[in-house]
Amino acid sequence: MTPLHHLRAGIIGTGFIGPVHIEALKRLGIQVTAICGSSKSAIQTAEMWGIPEAYGDYDHEAMYASPNVDVVHITSPNKVHVEQCLQALEMGKHVICEKPLGMTTAETALVVAAVKKGGKNGPVFAVNYMCRFFPAVLQMRAMVERGDLGEIIHVQGHFFQDWLLHQTDYNWRVLASEGGKLRAVGDIGTHWIDAVSFILGAKATNVFAHIETFHKERLRPKGEVKTFAKVDPKTLVPYKVDTEDFGSVLLKFGKAKHGYVNGVHANASISQVAAGWKCSLGLGIYGTKGSVQWDLQQPNEILVGRRDEPNQILQRGTPGFLEDVANFTDYPGGHPEGFSDAHKMHYRAVYEHIASGKKTPALFANAEDGHHEVKLCEAILQSSSSKTWVKV
Ligand SMILES: NC(=O)c1ccc[n+]([C@@H]2O[C@H](COP(=O)([O-])OP(=O)(O)OC[C@H]3O[C@@H](n4cnc5c(N)ncnc54)[C@H](O)[C@@H]3O)[C@@H](O)[C@H]2O)c1
Repeated sequence: MTPLHHLRAGIIGTGFIGPVHIEALKRLGIQVTAICGSSKSAIQTAEMWGIPEAYGDYDHEAMYASPNVDVVHITSPNKVHVEQCLQALEMGKHVICEKPLGMTTAETALVVAAVKKGGKNGPVFAVNYMCRFFPAVLQMRAMVERGDLGEIIHVQGHFFQDWLLHQTDYNWRVLASEGGKLRAVGDIGTHWIDAVSFILGAKATNVFAHIETFHKERLRPKGEVKTFAKVDPKTLVPYKVDTEDFGSVLLKFGKAKHGYVNGVHANASISQVAAGWKCSLGLGIYGTKGSVQWDLQQPNEILVGRRDEPNQILQRGTPGFLEDVANFTDYPGGHPEGFSDAHKMHYRAVYEHIASGKKTPALFANAEDGHHEVKLCEAILQSSSSKTWVKV
């Protein structure tokens, strides 16, 4: 057993993403010792995955009291993230919290403070912006950092989905009280911004945004609905929508240590009502020597654009990808890796960081990064109503 495999995980949440965490951990050979959810689903999930301890009634505190849980994965809806994070840190548990870190900066600041209070020997804390761990994203980051693309001029992209296109499509994210005031931007737009910040090595400092709600009224079933689940049209009731379906965001990024990024502008379109797009995080980074283009729906390839030479396609698992990126990929070229592999690589990086006593590079998003994304959401909301640039 490596030190990594001595660490034991407890998962909160049994919906769409909770089992993605469980599966990734199992593939890494990490023991999942506890699961917490509704009384029925905690037991069902425990039976299905062979998890020894099941905590029903959403009793995460009972799970935290277990001596068999070292790392807590928080995969519950956004509105309970902060409370669950703070209690886990208080109990000395390491945490991987789903994004967004919380609903407001007032509450996410508490998490930043709690992590700081833990100090050098305190728990490790990560936010699940796992798009950083697609080998292609790490590759593009290395290319920017090495100066392969020259000085970066501008960035463009989108995050498009269509699962909330119809008026009858429902999920708790549509309600500001459950998911936060920004829905499309908060839920998927922050993935785009975090991935671009990671590639550039610089944070967004200013924003100008316009958000729109196409369906001002939607129809929903009376009970809870698992993400991406189909609903019975006969059980629907109308409600007013208080979150956006799509947004256009302009961002200005600060200075990167490597010197190739300084005041770069980016424009991103974010939509959950874009027919035909299932989960397309697309981006293009344009520099004085060349560009890279990538889409999460074809995650194993990067298009490298050159003005005076032929364009190239770099393929994961082949010499086009750098050696340091190879550490974050398990399968040879031609055997596609995707969404679930990026989760796996993220968790491996966090668990290795814990097992090494924080000696490995912390490439993952920390509490400050998660807090910054929520700050951006608030600035985007403010900009959309004031119609002005807002400093983050
Ligand atoms: N990183 C990613 O790629 C990714 C993808 C999808 C979702 N997410 C995030 O994961 C979280 C969950 O999203 P989902 O799509 O799985 O939602 P979901 O509705 O499918 O599942 C949420 C689960 O949490 C449970 N739950 C509700 N209240 C709870 C509480 N108080 N304590 C514990 N569990 C509770 C529900 O019963 C359900 O099992 C969200 O924060 C979302 O933004 C991240």
